[in-house]
Amino acid sequence: ALEIKIAIDGPAAAGKSTIAKITAEKLGYTYIDTGAMYRALTHKALVHNINTRNGQELEKLLEETEIVLRPSINGQAVIVDGKDVTEDIRSQLVTASVSSVATHMGVRQLMVDKQRILAIGAGVVMDGRDIGTAVLPDAELKIFMTASVEERAMRRHIENEKRGFTTSLEQLKAEIAERDRADSEREVSPLRQAEDAVLIDTTSMSITDVAEKISELAEKRM
Ligand code: C5P
Repeated sequence: ALEIKIAIDGPAAAGKSTIAKITAEKLGYTYIDTGAMYRALTHKALVHNINTRNGQELEKLLEETEIVLRPSINGQAVIVDGKDVTEDIRSQLVTASVSSVATHMGVRQLMVDKQRILAIGAGVVMDGRDIGTAVLPDAELKIFMTASVEERAMRRHIENEKRGFTTSLEQLKAEIAERDRADSEREVSPLRQAEDAVLIDTTSMSITDVAEKISELAEKRM
């Protein structure tokens, strides 16, 4: 069978990475979490005290940064300049700052170049906000995954509790809504459903259902 490229886009906490990981594993493809790359740069910028509104400084920082996504038992490890930052990039502070970093055109251009290189040659499942519209416009399968903001906040809440910390559901809902707003309203490749993307509303679907649906769609395009 032909190896294809699968683009999964959608708002924050819609389950994209969970589904992308499962799909990649099923098909023996490479999973690429592009959000982790923006998070990695954001984390480094915070460590270096660089203002997330300063596009030029961020671009310069990214040029001298090595970001490696490495397959691991939990899906993917993120290595920045040789240091494992897989956990660090999920912090509240990074989450609250990443959308600001992701608004800058120069930063996005460099990221898109890196992401396209990672997608060359093999079957890939790539998730993010602009994969179907900007990074891989010729992907054989494009998915736009959504769920209600209440459902997304609830899933994140449960996930956090499993990891051992309590978060306020209302606060999570507000944070997710704010990140969606910033990602949808930015000028450079805002969060959009590509014209040829299949919309999947996962609000009342199980992980297994969503993964199966995507596998079916993928097989038809191989
Ligand atoms: O997917 P995740 O929630 O980890 O992404 C973090 C942030 O990175 C998003 O809210 C968005 O601001 C940015 N992002 C982006 N383009 C992508 C992936 C992520 O702008 N392709």
